[in-house]
Amino acid sequence: MNIRIKNFVDLIKDRGLRKKVVDIIENPQIRIGSTTYSGLPLESSPAGLSRHHSYPGGFIEHVIATSRIALALCDVVEDVYSGKVDRDQVLAGTILHDIFKPLTYAEIDGGYMPTKLGERLDHLTLVASELIRRSFALDIVHIVCAHHGGQAGPTWPRTVEALICHLADSTDSQLSGEVLRAARYLSRKVSGEEPALLTSKEAFEIVHSKTVEGWEGVDKTVQNIKREKPY
Ligand SMILES: [Fe+2]
Ligand SMILES: [Fe+2]
Repeated sequence: MNIRIKNFVDLIKDRGLRKKVVDIIENPQIRIGSTTYSGLPLESSPAGLSRHHSYPGGFIEHVIATSRIALALCDVVEDVYSGKVDRDQVLAGTILHDIFKPLTYAEIDGGYMPTKLGERLDHLTLVASELIRRSFALDIVHIVCAHHGGQAGPTWPRTVEALICHLADSTDSQLSGEVLRAARYLSRKVSGEEPALLTSKEAFEIVHSKTVEGWEGVDKTVQNIKREKPY
């Protein structure tokens, strides 16, 4: 298991829940009819086709960032609002919320396309079905079903834990998505093109160079990134 993911899995106190989470991470497959679907490895998968974390390793970064934001929100709920929150549920939710996204992506010509499975079923349906099949608690299945919020998903968050996971997921998706969008724009402005599979790390570098050194800085950073990877 990816060590950075394991660090969050290890924070789950309930041993039974922790084992269930480990089992699904170590074997992220789903069987539908007579077919077993397994997709891109978690390590190299993106977490989005184009909008956010749309590069190799994006999936792991998104899970880690979402879990960290969610734990920070747990601190706020407890320390500022004197509220109660079940951190085990939050951790299981953030770690597993997109766990079958890699099953819905295929790598084609240096980019990503949805697989046959991904064209027919969204990742919320896939993850929720498998969690039910594996006898996860209702409140954890709910977190998965509510993580896109009620406007973009099947249900609104009805628990504090589901709300925290939804806000954390949405925050990190926007953080990566907005910075990628800005970096692509800046790259096109200085070079007429954008680096393929631009990572969030590179995007933050490009945006930072604009802040500190202006267009000259953008040009320099984009040239550096170009040297490292083909367009
Ligand atoms: Fe999602
Ligand atoms: Fe997500």
